[in-house]
Formats: sequence, C-alpha cells, structure tokens
Amino acid sequence: MDLNSDVERILWTEEQILERVSELGSQLTRDFESRAITPVLVGVATGAFIFLADLVRKIQLPMNVDFVRVESYGSGTVSNGKPKISCDLKVDVRGRHVILVEDIVDTGNTLSCVIDYLKSKGASSISVCTLLDKPARRKVHFELVGEGKYYCGFECPDYFVVGYGFDFDEQYRNLPYVGVLKPEIYES
Ligand code: IMP
Ligand code: MG
Repeated sequence: MDLNSDVERILWTEEQILERVSELGSQLTRDFESRAITPVLVGVATGAFIFLADLVRKIQLPMNVDFVRVESYGSGTVSNGKPKISCDLKVDVRGRHVILVEDIVDTGNTLSCVIDYLKSKGASSISVCTLLDKPARRKVHFELVGEGKYYCGFECPDYFVVGYGFDFDEQYRNLPYVGVLKPEIYES
C-alpha cells in the first residue's frame, strides 16, 4: 500500500517545513535566551511529536521537554468539541515559562483546554508554537499567559491534512510532508 497515493496534493514539502522550523527555532532562541528561567517545551501528543523533535534541535538553549495527551478526536475529521487531558506532565511547570507545541490550531478547543490546565499547574508564562493554524475554523478564543507569545509556522487553508505528524484514523503520520488527504478516503 502506498500512502502517497491517498494524498491529493502537497501543501508543504519536507524542505519547506524544515526551513520554517529552523526559523521558528531561531526566533524562540532569541526570545527566551534573556529569561532567567529556562523554558519547558510541552508537546501535545501524538500529533506534535515530529514537529517537536525537529523544533527542539533548532533551539540553542537549555530546556525541558515534556508531553501532554489530549483526547478530542475520534476517528473522524471533525472535533467532538470536548477535549480532556488524558496523560499528565512529568515536569513541574510551576513558575516556569511553558512553550506549548501543537501540530495545528483548528477550533481552538484543544489549546484552550491545555492552556487552562497549565495555568492551573502554576506556569508563569504560556506561549504557543504551532506548526499550522486554520483561522477559518476557530470557534474558541484562547489567551496566552504572562509574557507568552504566539508562534505559527504556516497558515493552513481549510482542508483536512495528513503527514509530518498529522493523522487520519492514526495513519499517515510518517509522511515527510504535509498534504491534503483525498476526500474519498474519509468519506468512504
Ligand atoms: P482543535 O481542538 O479543534 O483546535 O483541534 C486540534 C487538534 O485536531 C489538533 O491537535 C489535531 O490533532 C487535530 N486536527 C485538526 N485539523 C486537522 C487536520 O486537518 N488533520 C489532522 N488532524 C487535525
Ligand atoms: Mg492532535
């Protein structure tokens, strides 16, 4: 079975993504190097695992890395709207600068849930670094905390995408690029 044949078109190639991730890494290095306390990067599993792995290697600072897991999607392509934290942090984020690393901000449900959670754990600032943002689909407003900043790789048109960590039904995450899934795959 060839995963590539289920993709209608490529939106961002592996090279384009890596170039953008490098830029984000440099920006984060500049923005956080003067802070007295080192940052904690918190990836939202599973989708952010590839982005996080590439991003941390482009940040030239001491840091901690951790994950949270949020359940919001079933096997469909539309969020069911009520995310829940299903796997806790290992690092104590109290008083720390957290950089939340997301694959995509879609409705905003997941992000606002994780921000509330990190706030309740006492993070002193919460920034967000997302690979993609689909502003057309935003339903929930979220607020960064403290001196938190928003970083975004690319603005994504309103298509269901797969690859570079993005899945449909837990498949396609290992494609090296981000592409649009053929609608007949999720409509069948
Ligand atoms: P939100 O809670 O609606 O903002 O959804 C965020 C989560 O939905 C992301 O972390 C992704 O896992 C998933 N998601 C949203 N859009 C897509 C897509 O186009 N392809 C794959 N997953 C997506
Ligand atoms: Mg996800």
